[in-house]
Amino acid sequence: MLKQELEDGQSSLADPAFRADVLNGLAARPRAIPARWFYDRRGSELFEAITDLPEYYPTRTETALLERVSPELGALAADNAAVVEFGSGSSTKTPILLRAINPSAYVPIDISGDFLRQSARDLGQAFPGLPVYPVEADFLRPVPLPLQVEGLPKLGFFPGSTIGNMNAWHAVGLLRAMRSWLGEGARLLIGMDRIKSPEILIPAYDDAQGVTAAFNLNLLERINRELDGTIPLDAFAHRAIWNPDAARIEMHLEALRDVSFDVDGRPFGMHAGETIHTENSHKYGPNGARQLLRAGGWTPIAEWTDPRDWFALILCEAQPIRTAP
Ligand code: AVJ
Repeated sequence: MLKQELEDGQSSLADPAFRADVLNGLAARPRAIPARWFYDRRGSELFEAITDLPEYYPTRTETALLERVSPELGALAADNAAVVEFGSGSSTKTPILLRAINPSAYVPIDISGDFLRQSARDLGQAFPGLPVYPVEADFLRPVPLPLQVEGLPKLGFFPGSTIGNMNAWHAVGLLRAMRSWLGEGARLLIGMDRIKSPEILIPAYDDAQGVTAAFNLNLLERINRELDGTIPLDAFAHRAIWNPDAARIEMHLEALRDVSFDVDGRPFGMHAGETIHTENSHKYGPNGARQLLRAGGWTPIAEWTDPRDWFALILCEAQPIRTAP
């Protein structure tokens, strides 16, 4: 280990992007830290636990929907397609899709190399003969697809309502980027959570067992551990609110009393009742969902929902952009 690292403790080893997002986010008003930083090892484990909670309907609803529609999907996808999954964490949904469409290659793209290699290994074992080309990349930046899939028809897979983490500006930017990576003529199967009663939505993000609270508070533990933070965890509480104007669940960490703390050697203070905004989870009605996809260059060609219309799977196509009918 370098002398510098020993003197500075963990902080000099931390991801510089994490440090910048936290320091800028705590200095900004309103205070906000991007949700992507939830997912250290512990955060990923807590998210897995969330997907099993009785109140957290999205994962089980989407998985059942995918099972139900998989015969139709098989008919709609090209038979030599390469499946390109964005954020390859969804280990239970992927096999359903792969069984349904029997692709000629699978390209999982994930920001976490460890997670990626593990799920690539598991899938390789479950689907012997299927070439798996994992790509470790942050899909908020340009993604180079492996040369091996260059000539194949592409089916993008973006389940889990991950798009809901982004506001419309960033969502459209990502959809357009996916279109340019996958190419004109590609298809995209995307999962989007529906707008529904706050009586259903809020418990899904504020469960009785406190797993979501632990998931939210783990961000502060991560800051303390990786960025030399002194944040007193007992001074913060998890809050989940429904913002009807923006049609989104917001997660915040609310200061329960006046607090001051350091992060990476810098002092910060918060008054009781002030919050750090840690996540948005946007929900979409049928029109809003389709409009967003079209703005991102994807034309919806098929759509399925569960009987309660709680979650939608939308298949879209990167059709040529036409200015006139
Ligand atoms: C992984 C972004 C889809 O918004 O439902 C779950 C994350 N946060 N509970 C969601 C999450 C709190 C989840 N996504």
